[in-house]
Amino acid sequence: MTEMTRRTLLRSATALSAGFLAACTTPRVREATPNSALTTSGPARTDGSHRAPQGELYGVGVYNTQQVADEMRYIEQNIRPLTGGNAKRILITGSTAGVGQLAAAYFLRRGHTVVAHARNAQREADVRRDLPKLEAVVVGDLLNLEETRALTEHINALGAFDVIIHNAGEYGLPTEQILNANSLSPYLLTALVDAPSEQMMYLSSDLHLSGNLKVDELRSGGTNITYDDSKLHMATLATGVARRRPELRVNAVAPGWVPTIMGFHNGPHAPDDLRESYMTQVLLAEDTYPGGQVTGQFLFQRQPEDRVHPGVYDEAAQDALLSAFAERTGVPLS
Ligand SMILES: NC(=O)c1ccc[n+]([C@@H]2O[C@H](COP(=O)([O-])OP(=O)(O)OC[C@H]3O[C@@H](n4cnc5c(N)ncnc54)[C@H](OP(=O)(O)O)[C@@H]3O)[C@@H](O)[C@H]2O)c1
Repeated sequence: MTEMTRRTLLRSATALSAGFLAACTTPRVREATPNSALTTSGPARTDGSHRAPQGELYGVGVYNTQQVADEMRYIEQNIRPLTGGNAKRILITGSTAGVGQLAAAYFLRRGHTVVAHARNAQREADVRRDLPKLEAVVVGDLLNLEETRALTEHINALGAFDVIIHNAGEYGLPTEQILNANSLSPYLLTALVDAPSEQMMYLSSDLHLSGNLKVDELRSGGTNITYDDSKLHMATLATGVARRRPELRVNAVAPGWVPTIMGFHNGPHAPDDLRESYMTQVLLAEDTYPGGQVTGQFLFQRQPEDRVHPGVYDEAAQDALLSAFAERTGVPLS
């Protein structure tokens, strides 16, 4: 796709964003599980708490599109293990569907060790069926900040990671839920989970350009945080954390508008390349990103994004956001 086409589409996507939030044409798994158990992989449980996986392999029409399922099969059939022993231990939030599941599948085929994250026991059963080679699955619904805090303890109990990818994201929900899942939970996961040895990535979006940091809203206890605001938070969190933790590489990645369940939220149209939605994360994790060992960048399709909200690279804005998150959650970022 030419740059002009992509930018035209970006403008349309941004303009459509408000309507995009209101309409929902795709059925979606949405189960309330306030007390979902935290579990890791191991022998199958006999207490009945594991449900049967839903639908066919990769959950077409349930939690994935046909395009994601086709890409999962492409990965399974074409990706070969790494040679040279550069395997990593990688945690990916929101790895039960879409971009996160594709990244997890790719990393597994390459021989990396992957821990997945699911929102509840049902989705845990689904991802165990889809990706049987996972080292473990951690469970917690990021809509519920108490579950997120419990999740961080469980992640820490699993030991050190090389790479953490903050990929999970909600769309089309009321602002209070977007705030919890897309902004406050990634912050808590950053502040409370032991830092990985090498790098972190945060999934943002082109739509961050229409967002506002809304630091005062965060400080005052307000909940009016839109999806676009939350994706600006993710990008600014990445650049702010990159400055606070110079020993790590920390970047924001926009996956493009791609045909996942989220990408098809307003109908079956998404113009960007699904394979590219996870390849930047792969290149970064495997230390083969063409720009070398970058940090504090906003990336899109293997290169720095040139259209970035000014707040993302503004150090005062980064510090204001981090301190607002700390005030709001009561958890400072060390
Ligand atoms: N698709 C696009 O066009 C697009 C464009 C720009 C940015 N992005 C960003 O890319 C990332 C991945 O999106 P995607 O397209 O792969 O979306 P997706 O297919 O809807 O997958 C989102 C993943 O996050 C998980 N998740 C969402 N809310 C959660 C919660 N409250 N607790 C635990 N897990 C949760 C989902 O679990 P369930 O499967 O249980 O729902 C799923 O595994 C998101 O951060 C999104 O904002 C996507």
